[in-house]
Amino acid sequence: MTNRINSKNRELVERARQVIPGGMYGHESVALLPDDFPQFFGKAEGARLWDVDGNEYVDYMCAFGPNLLGYQHPVVEQAARAQALLGDTMTGPSEAMVTLAEDFVGMISHASWAMFCKNGSDATSMAMVTARAHSGRRKILVAKGAYHGASPWNTPNLKGILPEDRAHIIYFEYNNLQSLADAVKLADGDIAGVFATPFRHEVFADQTDPSADYAKGVRKLCDDVDALLIVDEVRAGFRLTRDCSWSLLGVEPDLSAWGKVLGNGHPISALLGSEKARAAAQSIFVTGSFWFSAVPMAASVATLKLIRETDYLEKMIAIAERVRAGIGEQAAAHGFSIRQTGPAQMPQILFDEDPDMRVGYHWAAACVRRGVYMHPYHNMFVTSALREEDIRKTLDGTDAAFADLRQALPNLEPQTKPAVLARIERARAA
Ligand SMILES: Cc1ncc(COP(=O)(O)O)c(C=O)c1O
Repeated sequence: MTNRINSKNRELVERARQVIPGGMYGHESVALLPDDFPQFFGKAEGARLWDVDGNEYVDYMCAFGPNLLGYQHPVVEQAARAQALLGDTMTGPSEAMVTLAEDFVGMISHASWAMFCKNGSDATSMAMVTARAHSGRRKILVAKGAYHGASPWNTPNLKGILPEDRAHIIYFEYNNLQSLADAVKLADGDIAGVFATPFRHEVFADQTDPSADYAKGVRKLCDDVDALLIVDEVRAGFRLTRDCSWSLLGVEPDLSAWGKVLGNGHPISALLGSEKARAAAQSIFVTGSFWFSAVPMAASVATLKLIRETDYLEKMIAIAERVRAGIGEQAAAHGFSIRQTGPAQMPQILFDEDPDMRVGYHWAAACVRRGVYMHPYHNMFVTSALREEDIRKTLDGTDAAFADLRQALPNLEPQTKPAVLARIERARAA
């Protein structure tokens, strides 16, 4: 293991503290992470990431999802560059918007229209507004602890948020039909929509799959009360299947929200809908200065083509399963009991007997010091750009990290970050 330099990162963190509240905000802040995690990055290519000090990582966060096919994928970047030479943010959209809508709708079974925006939060908020416009009703049902964005109606942090912002949100237990039926009852006929994530992927917690019976039951409950079913694909989209994720369970939603991978890193998200929801979508007013920029749309057309025409998905899953098996064997060999939950291509790795997560934090930090960017409490993401040498570097790094952990275990300091302890507590209660 080389001695890591982090002087440039430290300097930027200091400068940032002066001019950016808290130095950084949101889910990409490293405030809840061990000190070894860099905050600022210099470049990224394929499956690799370099921090501002030049330390290189095999990256298992993929920009928190967007890097599906590899950072700077040549085909995607060529399409983006070609469009950039013609124009990007103009007085109206380019032809790419129509092509993208046609291509996307052609890939997703339930969809007959598409609307584009910038972030996942835009798409989920548009879904909520469309559902309410469809029926003129108010209540929106959301699974407890599920993340659907950072707008007042769904942000996990309640600072600055009013009870009124959530007056018409009703919460239920994920994968629990009785709890959903109770929430529907509570809505008392005033129900507009029900949100679902493809599987349960919350921070600080094991990931769990819904059963097909549950998904079908959600569909039926929505149909019974004429509420729109919204699948939030922002995190899992195109990492489970080339269609909407719940198609794997035999269920088609009325609306689906997409983001992250759509432009393989270019800023774009989308709301897709079925014929039934078209009139409602047409009736609402939603827009943004950069929503119609042509470059991310051209990048998305190229990304979707690669999704349709290559075996990126099968390759990604095969690689991810090899990495998962390797880590599982190493953990056992070093005498650790770990839980690797969720699909291998969106893995969550948590340690047994680790109530304050000091063990998982130490291991992830030890991985980072060895050039493998692993996250201790958020689900990770695998890119189809991982190659043999990346896998080798990963498994060398994770093995050494387990050995490091074994040695450090007797003297591990308790978790001291109050915000981490609070999040662990919240995840346990959810
Ligand atoms: C399931 C889900 N929905 C919505 C969002 C919000 O997306 P964005 O951060 O692009 O606004 C996220 C982001 O992580 C997400 O995971």
